Amino acid sequence: MRVLVVGGGGREHTLVWKIAQSPKVEKIYAAPGNAGISQNAECISIQPTQIDELADFAETNEIELTVVGPEGPLVVGIVDTFQTRGLKIFGPSKQAARLEGSKVFAKELMRDYGIPTAGFEVFTSPDKAIGYIKAKGAPIVVKADGLAAGKGAVVAMTEEEAIEAVEKMLVEKTFGEAGDKVVIEEYLRGEEASVLALSDGETIVPLVPSQDHKRAFDGDQGPNTGGMGAYAPAPVITKKLMQEINSSILQPTVEAMADKGITYKGVLYAGLIMTAQGPQVLEFNCRFGDPESQAQLPLMKSDLVDILLAICDQKLKDVPIEEKNKAAVCVVMASEGYPGAYEKGREITGLKEAEEMEGIVIFHAGTKMEKGKVVTNGGRVLGVTAVADGIPAAVNRAYQAVERIRFQGAHYRRDIGFRALARENL
Ligand code: AMP
Ligand code: GLY
Repeated sequence: MRVLVVGGGGREHTLVWKIAQSPKVEKIYAAPGNAGISQNAECISIQPTQIDELADFAETNEIELTVVGPEGPLVVGIVDTFQTRGLKIFGPSKQAARLEGSKVFAKELMRDYGIPTAGFEVFTSPDKAIGYIKAKGAPIVVKADGLAAGKGAVVAMTEEEAIEAVEKMLVEKTFGEAGDKVVIEEYLRGEEASVLALSDGETIVPLVPSQDHKRAFDGDQGPNTGGMGAYAPAPVITKKLMQEINSSILQPTVEAMADKGITYKGVLYAGLIMTAQGPQVLEFNCRFGDPESQAQLPLMKSDLVDILLAICDQKLKDVPIEEKNKAAVCVVMASEGYPGAYEKGREITGLKEAEEMEGIVIFHAGTKMEKGKVVTNGGRVLGVTAVADGIPAAVNRAYQAVERIRFQGAHYRRDIGFRALARENL
């Protein structure tokens, strides 16, 4: 069969890599793809936001399954457009994707259906929002309602910071319409984890739990990024906790959506924090994580295409999802300056030597081919992933591979997996 993957980052390279392993698949296209993706797929120059062009391409090229990586096209309704045109596509509908596309929608759903999350209020008036911040005091968290490329949540340690965030969102309109409403919520303490499940609206199957590293520098210092590394399974999520998360968060969320008349098909990504009161939801995403997918998908034993097709047809209960009894660690190599401004076009060497190592897969994020050479083309450049028998071995192997790869100004964290390594129960 012919498959189209929408997107061009590390997550999409992982999807293409996994889809290519399916004996059913004869040809993969990626829009727009990157240098690494072009090893397994034909890259086409259509952007993920060009939904009509993507549907035209799928129709003309007899694509039998389209898989969407990023949230942007899902939130504006790529799934609805494809389905109206009779094209099979994996992902949530526009209504279902509101779980990620509107924090107000997600928070109100959680409140109405008793799904554990931080207490909150919604504001459109800056004066009322500021009054609330002064009454509650810091620390406190201010979030723009809509998509803001990972920059819409401000964890304010002082009242001044929180007020500044409100002014940026509601008065200066830094995020445009995405900041027309803000959620102000209670500050929670605990270890974070990413729990992702696959859902066809009826059957919900969690994947191995994972943990991201959002800050730019070691020891969780510095600015927030898209994610500097991930590992799976995350030992903070014990079997018992996973059961609790499944019954108190994942299942009730899909059921709450169904109660509203919305079938939740696709990936349900719960960004969780383990508080003294138990796991609580920080956010929902409606797609695979990046870089979490780069640790989670290499651990999946089953054929991903079978699973994605089963979800489209609402038959997930008939397809068991098997995982390898191994651990995976992904170290992100980023451009100098990321998440701030950075230069592109720096030559990357050592990829072949690193890839030849046992248990290593290199997922490309911001790369492109230039005159026969692979060069940097984004903030996050590569996700170097190691699969091994446990987290400690995977961490060592991933860093051995990272050391073989060079580009000018390469920046990566040296402590990916530190929380797992600090646990005694490994
Ligand atoms: P979000 O985009 O909502 O996931 O927020 C981004 C990051 O901000 C999270 O990964 C947390 O590290 C932090 N964060 C969000 N909400 C809270 C909260 N209520 N309490 C503490 N930290 C939070
Ligand atoms: N790693 C965070 C995300 O995918 O949103």
